[in-house]
Amino acid sequence: MKAHFLARLLIVSGFLLLAFTTFLALQSEVQAQGGEDGRGMSMPDRLAPPPMPDNPTQADFGRYDFYLYCMTCHGDRGQGLTEEWRSAWAPGDRNCWQSKCHAANHPPEGFQLPYFIPYVVGKGALARFATADDLFQYVRREMPWHWPGMYDDDIYWKLTAFLAHENGLYTGDAEIGPENAMNIVLWPGRESNTKTAPEEVAATPPNKETLTQVGMGFTLWLLLILIGILAGVFALVRINARKT
Ligand code: HEC
Repeated sequence: MKAHFLARLLIVSGFLLLAFTTFLALQSEVQAQGGEDGRGMSMPDRLAPPPMPDNPTQADFGRYDFYLYCMTCHGDRGQGLTEEWRSAWAPGDRNCWQSKCHAANHPPEGFQLPYFIPYVVGKGALARFATADDLFQYVRREMPWHWPGMYDDDIYWKLTAFLAHENGLYTGDAEIGPENAMNIVLWPGRESNTKTAPEEVAATPPNKETLTQVGMGFTLWLLLILIGILAGVFALVRINARKT
């Protein structure tokens, strides 16, 4: 009788635990998808220009410039030159590196494209840039990759504002420019002026803290639930034992 009761209780609590963890897992998955702004993989017209609001901010202008000058390489969501992004193009345009395109034998007016083009929007993006000024200096000095510095500073500031806002690294209203960029911290703790070598940055992924925090929170929850269930089982067994 008692053994029966215990077994049933264990099975029921096991199921509850399973259901709860499944629920948590599903929830975090939904959140992860929502983190992409809910924009699905198969947006019908991903190559169309972004809509411009009535009173565009500096970042809105930057979004448009990004569309014009950077999107081909860095993706419509700043995801980088991923396979998924290339699949948004017409079939004939998807292999950027085919012979006579952006391969070593590119046409004289063209250029050879690197195989890896990093993401510039997303978790941990731009983590090598301490301040908005660092980001601006880098983008102006190095981008667009095939013709660095080809645009006016004004455009590079808009692009800087767009990237900073889009990544949630800057939420202020003030436009970013030479007078304030050095004081706009994007990634605290980074060494300013892009002196940080890329290797160093790679050794300390910026999201590590948040990831372990999430992991900790989850295990803590599980532990608490387990302890609760065990305590419940004990209590019930005690009560049952007293009754018989
Ligand atoms: C022809 C392709 C191409 C275009 C166009 C291009 N980029 Fe890049 N971008 C690259 C490549 C390749 C790298 C990596 C360079 C490296 O690691 O040395 C890069 C790196 C970057 C980085 C540094 C990312 C990081 O975290 O290290 C930023 C920021 C960036 N680009 C912004 C821009 C902006 C803004 C534009 C538009 C003006 C632009 N890029 C246009 C190819 C491109």
